[in-house]
Amino acid sequence: MTDQAQDKLWGGRFTEATDAFVEAFTASVTFDKKMAEQDINGSIAHATMLAAVGVLTDAEKQQIINGLEQIRSEIRAGTFEWSIKLEDVHMNIEARLTDRIGITGKKLHTGRSRNDQVATDIRLYMRDAIDAILKEITRLQTGLVHLAEREADTIMPGFTHLQTAQPVTFGHHMLAWNEMLFRDYERLVDCRKRVNRMPLGSAALAGTTYPIDRTITAKLLGFEGICENSLDGVSDRDFAIEFAAASALIMTHLSRYSEELVLWASAQFNFVDLPDRFCTGSSIMPQKKNPDVPELVRGKTGRVNGHLISLLTLMKSQCLAYNKDNQEDKEPLFDTVETVLNCLRAYADMVPALQVKKDNMREAAKRGFSTATDLADYLVKKGVAFRDSHEIVGKAVGYGVAQKKDLADMTLAELQQFSSIITDDVFAVLTLEGSVNARNHLGGTAPAQVKAAVVRAKAKLAERT
Ligand code: ARG
Repeated sequence: MTDQAQDKLWGGRFTEATDAFVEAFTASVTFDKKMAEQDINGSIAHATMLAAVGVLTDAEKQQIINGLEQIRSEIRAGTFEWSIKLEDVHMNIEARLTDRIGITGKKLHTGRSRNDQVATDIRLYMRDAIDAILKEITRLQTGLVHLAEREADTIMPGFTHLQTAQPVTFGHHMLAWNEMLFRDYERLVDCRKRVNRMPLGSAALAGTTYPIDRTITAKLLGFEGICENSLDGVSDRDFAIEFAAASALIMTHLSRYSEELVLWASAQFNFVDLPDRFCTGSSIMPQKKNPDVPELVRGKTGRVNGHLISLLTLMKSQCLAYNKDNQEDKEPLFDTVETVLNCLRAYADMVPALQVKKDNMREAAKRGFSTATDLADYLVKKGVAFRDSHEIVGKAVGYGVAQKKDLADMTLAELQQFSSIITDDVFAVLTLEGSVNARNHLGGTAPAQVKAAVVRAKAKLAERT
């Protein structure tokens, strides 16, 4: 064995030093040091278990724990020296432990492998990440529910095909966004159950010859269960893929909100004002106030969708058990976590500050003949067949387009040109309020329903804490 090969924790069987490029190419410490805290927690639990089953003495365990805690402090203080020669976070910390406490440090790795160690670290990391994301979802939802409550009566045009369809309330629209987040939340809670199972004890792939007690380590680390099969435990990253899929859906939802905010903030729609602190200007056009935050969130959806595909492709066709391919799971995962957290944070901060331009929304709702369906329903209720009433109202709209007049602004005589069945009571139906109030059933847009839905949403959110 050469001196350089001796540098490595696995150098025993090697006769030449690792190629310098290969060393850098295969190392992961530059990014997996993000899991240092999880790695230390996992090692402390492992050492504690080894002592409980008699593989380590209590004194050895204590020495290891003290050493690891000192290393934690060094890392937190930024004084820890990470070395690419030591490949990854696991070997960097283990080598430092031996530096500090001598021979006992070399006993920590008894009965485990980096394969079950890394699988454990990543699950611990993701568990924390999911908890942080759940918190941000709740913060955003709380903001949306308050906005919905405040704007329960505010009328805007509802769209299909981005063409004015029927009036809806702004509160109802905000609660539609909120529903998406309820499902995103549920998906992450469900995914967390499968993340929160412990691979430690799988060792390299087949388990270990030491009398380990995996229930002790699982309990110490807060795992709800154990990966039942060692080969599966060290190799599958399906839980990470699931998390990436749930994240891609969150981003997809945020991208939809973003698209709407960008449209609404335009001079053409002019439905909302985004606070200046969430916007930027143009270096050339003095009048510009750009909705950068929603645009950027919309754009960042691309990278999260990409990470999902990366992880799926990384896992595809991998034979059992651990393969180095799996080292590639970390960067997409870390970036997914950071991106989703930042985007949710931006939204949770921005939503309560949205300024809603009620008058403009109302004008827009009137402009698009949004109560045409109400007129058709009115005729049906007076005995006209729906297809005939559709035809009658179509003609009335045609007249309104030519005369530049909304249905509600026509005289009774004008309306009666299209059907003699129409009487004075039609005007109550043709107003925007009449239209939204008429949709008064569970899930409908009537302000009364929005207020009831707000109460239910608040109760559901309150169950979380
Ligand atoms: N850095 C590795 C990873 O991220 C740790 C596990 C390496 N195991 C091994 N036998 N080379 O997956």
